[in-house]
Amino acid sequence: MTSLFQRYDLGALTLPNRVVMAPMTRVRAAAGGLATPSMATYYAQRASAGLIVTEGVQPSLIGQSNPGTPGLHTDEQQASWRPVTDAVHANGGRIFAQLMHGGRVSHPDTTGTRPVGPSAVAAVGDVFTPTGPRPAPVPRALETAEIPEHARSYGDAARRAVDAGFDGVELHGANGYLISQFLSSNANLRTDGYGGSVAHRIRFAVEAVSATVEAVGAARTGIRLSPGGTFWGVEEKEVTELYTALLGELARLDVAYVHIEATTDEEVLLELRRAWPGTLVMNPVLPMGPKQTGRSDADHWLGLGADLISFGRAFIANPDLVERLRTGVPIAPVDEATYYQGGDAGYLTYPAHQYSA
Ligand SMILES: Cc1cc2nc3c(=O)[nH]c(=O)nc-3n(C[C@H](O)[C@H](O)[C@H](O)COP(=O)(O)O)c2cc1C
Repeated sequence: MTSLFQRYDLGALTLPNRVVMAPMTRVRAAAGGLATPSMATYYAQRASAGLIVTEGVQPSLIGQSNPGTPGLHTDEQQASWRPVTDAVHANGGRIFAQLMHGGRVSHPDTTGTRPVGPSAVAAVGDVFTPTGPRPAPVPRALETAEIPEHARSYGDAARRAVDAGFDGVELHGANGYLISQFLSSNANLRTDGYGGSVAHRIRFAVEAVSATVEAVGAARTGIRLSPGGTFWGVEEKEVTELYTALLGELARLDVAYVHIEATTDEEVLLELRRAWPGTLVMNPVLPMGPKQTGRSDADHWLGLGADLISFGRAFIANPDLVERLRTGVPIAPVDEATYYQGGDAGYLTYPAHQYSA
């Protein structure tokens, strides 16, 4: 049986193990969306992962979802990432940037602009703003002619990412953000070529991926999906048909990997595994659910045909997660209070296990 500790060839990279650090927003960027020296230390501490996927990074100012998140749309932001990628590489690691356009999950107090979305339908819930949580605003529905520019923003940010030393990028196509809003049947009420049928609802995702592949190559392009997920109030009709169609297009584009969250029944997930001939990164538990990914979830999914397994919360509290999984040392618990605040506390302060000689 496949083991978490076997090597894996991903595009031009050889991963020394199949443990992926899942993308996690930590809200510790400097003003102007700049990466910081603490971020370099944080990711470098976790460089024994087969692959690190960063926190969500906005590809444009209007695509910023939360205050305090980093960007990849200015020269200064691009330059700020170089010490991060250098530090990870110096420790022997590999790192992809997650490109996250929040779409309607944003606020004018955060970006200075009214958020945009496929349709003028507000997300369900409060969004974060510089002055605390506020009800999600009704976004401005994108004009048909504006949509390609948002798809291209992923490609432009991908080029900046690679120029800043990233090994590749993961498009955030999950969790109710812009790509996921287009896939949705209640956030996307469009009647043009980007809404309605399955073929129309996947179009924005395909255009965003195509722009990225054109910018940095398919071997450096991955995408994250949450089939059937209901984050921020999105609903999806025809989940199996929708994702089978999308996976067909992604196969045609030959992207490096698809990263799937366990947001629907295992039966459907297995059908999607069969529909996707390429590398599958599986995140085996419900995001933000009560139970975090552990060794048994990982082994279960390796047995079901996943190639790589992503761990989120366990990586926050265990910078040496791979070694702990390998040796059976207990996984340290995570402090939720410092997910999105606390500076270096709860960020750089989790120690590696000290093995006795
Ligand atoms: C603090 C925190 C921030 C997160 N931010 C992101 C994000 O920026 N992008 C994303 O795709 N998922 C994000 N997630 C979801 C995780 O990638 C992962 O799917 C989730 O934590 C479930 O995996 P786990 O049980 O291994 O933690 C976040 C999760 C946590 C706990």
